[in-house]
Amino acid sequence: MTETLTDVASLFAEAAGLAASALDRNSNRSGPVVHRLSPLELQESLGLELPAKGQGMDAALELARKTLHYSVATGHPRFLNQLFGGHDAPGILGEWICALTNTSMYTYEAAPVGTVVELALLKRMSEYVGFECGEGVFAPGGSIANLMAMLTARHHYFPHVKHDGLRPDDQPVMFVSAEAHYSIARSAMVAGIGTSGCIEVPTDDVGRMLPAELEALVEEAIRAGKRPFMVAATAGTTVPGAFDPVDAIADIAKQHDLWLHVDGSYGGSVLFSAKHRQLLKGIERADSVTWNPHKMMGVPLSCAALLMKQPGALVATLGMNADYLFHADAEADWDLGDRSLQCGRRVDALKLWFSWQALGDEGYEQRVDHLFELAEEFREMVRSTPGFRLIREQESTNVCFRYLPEEQRELKGQARDRCEHEATLRIRAIMANEGSFLVNYATLDGAATFRLVASNPQTNSEDLRALLARIQSA
Ligand SMILES: Cc1ncc(COP(=O)(O)O)c(C=O)c1O
Repeated sequence: MTETLTDVASLFAEAAGLAASALDRNSNRSGPVVHRLSPLELQESLGLELPAKGQGMDAALELARKTLHYSVATGHPRFLNQLFGGHDAPGILGEWICALTNTSMYTYEAAPVGTVVELALLKRMSEYVGFECGEGVFAPGGSIANLMAMLTARHHYFPHVKHDGLRPDDQPVMFVSAEAHYSIARSAMVAGIGTSGCIEVPTDDVGRMLPAELEALVEEAIRAGKRPFMVAATAGTTVPGAFDPVDAIADIAKQHDLWLHVDGSYGGSVLFSAKHRQLLKGIERADSVTWNPHKMMGVPLSCAALLMKQPGALVATLGMNADYLFHADAEADWDLGDRSLQCGRRVDALKLWFSWQALGDEGYEQRVDHLFELAEEFREMVRSTPGFRLIREQESTNVCFRYLPEEQRELKGQARDRCEHEATLRIRAIMANEGSFLVNYATLDGAATFRLVASNPQTNSEDLRALLARIQSA
């Protein structure tokens, strides 16, 4: 296939039109969130066989149309399923520019703009956290950022592991709330600590780690001959959206010489809000923080940062000094490659930069405050509508609730929980299949529970009322 500049220009002119109509779909409330097909039907509709002879650029446009048609409209106001939502046009433009520049973040030489932009963003995010001369690196998501934090903590207490591996008498253990994200236990598995070395701390009825329980478990581990080295607090847990009491946890970390990590993948963005930032009180006492702009800030996936209090800790842990890549020249100090687990790395900082310039701190603050208000409004609707009840009453952007159909409202205890469990699964599937609403569920207190996430500022009262009405009628 020979391609000319005119071909390419018309391809992108068409693509811009497609982008506009894809974003338009997000303002059409009466349109579905998804045109749902079964996996077999979808395979058939897409036509997945790969041709021996190239089909030309028109084929790519046709695929773009189909992909957009069958993809979930995660920017739709009735997509309430994940910890991200809405769409961010400047961020999407940043994503396009990332593809157009097609480079990798390992060296200043290969990614000059990406490097200085990433450093500027890390500095600003560190200031929000309260790290005076912190540093960090962007990661392909909160899970990998959490893993890098754990590897750095492990290196701090067990530096011999980098060369020798763990020794039998090391016995490292770490602590995390029972409601923390599974990436922490997985990181413990990858870091050689093992999932059994990732000790779960019980939570209160809102879902926050109980500091007294943490202290008791740390002391128990010491008595058992283990070496506690880290505690990971969560700022915004995945299901109820709870914020662990970082300040109280920091006291225990200090007393027992533990690395304090805060997984703010979801709730880090609350630092923008003067009204709600007290939920993260004490975060400046952490050694490391994960913060994903691709969740509450609405920046396109994936965009996540790991922030470190101590400059140099990441390079000491992860640096391998590959001399084919990192040359000892005048700009070597600017190379970010040895701070990361990756070699090739996308320029994820660009989309956050574009987005932040467009919205400013104030725009993000308004967004976060608005999402909190939206969740509170929905909580109030749940409280006042017969048949519905809240399962956790927390201050956050998540709402966990169940519904009991009218003819079963007399039920109590386990019988009630069982009916609510079945209703959640059945009703959720009906809504997902018809594409009217996507709302996720999780098991809380032993039964399936709807988890609504206020993640799109375009979602309004009408959407929330329509959701309750659809649950009742389904
Ligand atoms: C609290 C928390 N930490 C970490 C993660 C993982 O983030 P990512 O999906 O970016 O890997 C999530 C994902 O939802 C999360 O809720």
